[in-house]
Amino acid sequence: MSNHPAASISLTRYLIEEQRAGRINAELRQLIAVVARACTSISIAVSKGALGGVLGDAGTGNVQGEAQKKLDVLSNDILLEANAWGGHLAACASEEMDHCQPIPDAYPRGNFLLLFDPLDGSSNIDVNVSVGTIFSVLRCPDGVTTPTDEHFLQPGTAQVAAGYCIYGPSTMLVLSVGHGTHAFTLDREQGAFVLTQGDMRIPDETAEFAINVSNQRHWEPAMQQYVEDLLAGKQGPRGKDFNMRWIASMVADVHRILTRGGIFIYPWDRKDPSKPGKLRLMYEANPMGMLVEQAGGAASTGRGRILDIAPTQLHQRVPVFLGSRNEVAAVERYHATAVASA
Ligand code: AHG
Ligand code: MN
Ligand code: MN
Repeated sequence: MSNHPAASISLTRYLIEEQRAGRINAELRQLIAVVARACTSISIAVSKGALGGVLGDAGTGNVQGEAQKKLDVLSNDILLEANAWGGHLAACASEEMDHCQPIPDAYPRGNFLLLFDPLDGSSNIDVNVSVGTIFSVLRCPDGVTTPTDEHFLQPGTAQVAAGYCIYGPSTMLVLSVGHGTHAFTLDREQGAFVLTQGDMRIPDETAEFAINVSNQRHWEPAMQQYVEDLLAGKQGPRGKDFNMRWIASMVADVHRILTRGGIFIYPWDRKDPSKPGKLRLMYEANPMGMLVEQAGGAASTGRGRILDIAPTQLHQRVPVFLGSRNEVAAVERYHATAVASA
């Protein structure tokens, strides 16, 4: 038996009320519902683990030069299949596909573009740690019937919706249609997402950071200084003790930050100078940036707002600093000071 109250608000009801309030149209409402259904299917596959034969490598690579896990490929297929026939989309783009994929000719094409990181945190799949799906919705430019990669190159400010689904101890969908960030928990018996944390707010101040410190030797001087000062604690220039967490699933790290604050960092580093950071602008930084800003936080490259970047490539990478706004401002000051004294 389900133990949420009878008057609880399902995702379906939330979306219908957003439509009534004129904040989304029917097409976008149905598109989000389809994405949520696909995430439910992915959640079922993830939770079967070894029993479902879904663990391990797929034996293939993606355009990012990364080895694909079976679940990367399966999740991508689930999202593509679920979104092919609804008539709400013109095309999909994915971290796991070289180029965007227009909706097949057999189905009507709609007015939106969907981007996704089908399975975020792939290194955690085989060790039974939280993973997720991240998505972003853009408008298809007027008059375009067969979108190509260039039609996806819109700044994060153009997103009409963004969200993620976290497959953790519980499965949660966190969504923004530009009017706050809201979290829904999957009720498995009902097969429905139920609103459990409306209007998430990230505290302005934090004493918790998330970064993979094993890359320290590759960081630029501003980052070296910033983290050195965090680690110096109360006696150092920041005047307080900081705690650290790193799950290595952006979805899980960002979920913690949306829940209790913090700063998530994946900076530019010298490990591979051809890549300006590890995380992808279109599938990770932009959707997470929108969710964080809509919850009162900030999302920056260290040198400017992520959502203002004019993308040049579908699979472009960017440095990411997001979370509690005063801490993001602090990290921007370290970068600005480094430029000034260079
Ligand atoms: P993905 O699994 O989609 O490739 O993304 C992994 C990303 C992100 O989720 C996480 O924050 C980061 O990579 C972890 O990187 P490290 O393994 O370098 O810590
Ligand atoms: Mn990812
Ligand atoms: Mn991924």
